[in-house]
Amino acid sequence: MIIAIDGPSGAGKSTLGKMLAKKLNLLYLDTGAMYRAVGLAVLEAGASLENKEKVIEIAKSAKIELVGEPENLRIKLDGRDVSQNIRSQQIGQTASIVSGVSEVRKILVEHQRKLGNNAQNGCVLDGRDIGTIVFPRADVKFFLTAKPEARARRRFEEDSSKNWAETFEKTLREINLRDARDVSRVDSPLAIAEDAIVIDTSELNLTEVFEQMSEKIKEKFNLGGDLIK
Ligand code: DC
Repeated sequence: MIIAIDGPSGAGKSTLGKMLAKKLNLLYLDTGAMYRAVGLAVLEAGASLENKEKVIEIAKSAKIELVGEPENLRIKLDGRDVSQNIRSQQIGQTASIVSGVSEVRKILVEHQRKLGNNAQNGCVLDGRDIGTIVFPRADVKFFLTAKPEARARRRFEEDSSKNWAETFEKTLREINLRDARDVSRVDSPLAIAEDAIVIDTSELNLTEVFEQMSEKIKEKFNLGGDLIK
């Protein structure tokens, strides 16, 4: 079973992806974390983001692993736990830039397909191009979206709780900037797959979105009530 969750940043993809993976006992893959890990590797190497050859070389040699249960997923870069380091706004922007390099996408997409196909029971993947490029034949495709202000508010609250946030306005600006880059890149821009189920989460809480997603999965697989309550 492959479940694809795409959408812009801050729409709730990772939280809901983890909840679904846990409930269905599937592997959870945060593909954004992989682009972030490449971004971190580039910054740590002191390479210029404009030096594409170097960025590609770094992406090729970076060993990126996702380990652990969905609710406690750890991201490793060359054996080092970087789960915290990759969450800053700076790395978010860097990830967004390196994700525009086609060769970087090729390397990570291949890695994602391998992990997804080898997952024992199946996999929930969240990202921007899962339903369109990585797994175009995914069993269920969701596209989660929300108004930029709602997404910025959530991101700001999350960052504030970690003492990372600066101002709401800055968070909103960053979200808008990243959206613009994600939808306008030439290779695999953020797009809604034809057969995706679109859910606008602006006015919904997590439980409501989770219920809607669970219902769709139940319908698709004819699942009984005890697999997803
Ligand atoms: O979901 P996130 O904010 O952690 O993703 C970081 C960046 O990576 C985001 O700006 C877009 C990019 N990304 C991508 O291009 N394709 C994916 N499948 C996942 C993320």
